[in-house]
Amino acid sequence: MSLSPSTLSPPPLSLYVHIPWCVRKCPYCDFNSHQGRGELPFAAYVDALLADLDLDLPLVWGRTVQTVFFGGGTPSLMPGELIDRFLQGASSRLRFAPGCEITLETNPGTVEHGSFKAYCDAGINRLSFGVQSFDDGCLQRLGRIHDSSEATAAIKLAQDAGFDNINLDLMYALPGQNLAMAESDLEQAFALQPTHMSHYQLTLEPNTVFAARPPSGLPDEDGSWDIQEHCQAMLADAGYRQYEVSAYARPGRECVHNLNYWKYGDYLGIGAGAHGKITSGHDQSILRRWKLKHPAAYLEAADSERGIGGDELIATERRPFEFMLNALRLVDGFSLTGFEASTGVPRSAIQAQLQEAVQKQWLLVDGDAVRPTALGRRFTNDVVELFLTG
Ligand SMILES: C[S@@+](CC[C@H](N)C(=O)[O-])C[C@H]1O[C@@H](n2cnc3c(N)ncnc32)[C@H](O)[C@@H]1O
Ligand code: SF4
Repeated sequence: MSLSPSTLSPPPLSLYVHIPWCVRKCPYCDFNSHQGRGELPFAAYVDALLADLDLDLPLVWGRTVQTVFFGGGTPSLMPGELIDRFLQGASSRLRFAPGCEITLETNPGTVEHGSFKAYCDAGINRLSFGVQSFDDGCLQRLGRIHDSSEATAAIKLAQDAGFDNINLDLMYALPGQNLAMAESDLEQAFALQPTHMSHYQLTLEPNTVFAARPPSGLPDEDGSWDIQEHCQAMLADAGYRQYEVSAYARPGRECVHNLNYWKYGDYLGIGAGAHGKITSGHDQSILRRWKLKHPAAYLEAADSERGIGGDELIATERRPFEFMLNALRLVDGFSLTGFEASTGVPRSAIQAQLQEAVQKQWLLVDGDAVRPTALGRRFTNDVVELFLTG
């Protein structure tokens, strides 16, 4: 691909904070999460996070953070007072936008009475609950530490504490699950009136217990497709608009943090194994940086450059592929103006691939706007591949 430069301008900036411990490792999970043993070193971890942030600050001087996301692992294992100490430290180092969305991932089996008020006082204004299912048999087969009544009670406690922006994660195509059970999961979720739903098909990820020994009773491909189609319709009927492969929201309640990833925005990633992506208008560069993965190694090294696992500059030729990998997940697609600004690549460089995708009825191009068709969203990997070398 021959590329004459287009001007790269820094997109919105987010902050991701990784908390790497869980009560127990779930057999399907390939996230950087580790079963916590004994008392977890959260106070030392907050010191490490702030030292880690200090090392990243020169990458983002003068920029404003639009969203913060505590992900895991199980961030809800962390006491509210320590979340507060971290957010105070972070906001003294970085400017946070007014009304900045600040999300905390929450395992319904880890929250006690009172902790939601502390999270609210610390500045958390959005919660994401890992419910997975409301069927106790399914939850057991998934190795979860909570049952459905605990999930319902935790969500109600959060609402009583004042949280009004709540996501529920559900998974479908679970071992032993049929269509009626998947529908019942959604109905029980709707009764709790979340503002956002994430609906993920269970995948068998390499290097997990489920990949090594798949559970019995998994729905076949047709069964999974059937569940997906019916559930999509139910979500739409209940007022949750699909805006990404697995994300559904009430109007105006889309997750701003995740939208920034999917729009090829910038983010600092701090914490064990966290990844960041930062654009420099001055250097016309895009840098990826990641941190040491293992919590003990990270804790030991985070106050020096040794905590940085690696840095990589993204070559101009690779940016269209990276952009599409994210943007084509979005139901509304993207604008060519946005593509040029956030990749530094002129639209002329992807003209041939766009034409091919339009011919195959994978994409619709209307002036500046590009959006995937239903067929394109079904074959996202094939569409994205067109931009791999071109
Ligand atoms: C990083 S997890 C964090 C939530 C929290 N740790 C919990 O599980 O309660 C984010 C979500 O990804 C989804 N997820 C994790 N592993 C998955 C898999 N193998 N297939 C589909 N979804 C998965 C689950 O719905 C989970 O809630
Ligand atoms: S609680 Fe969440 S992050 Fe932890 S092992 Fe289970 S799915 Fe993974």
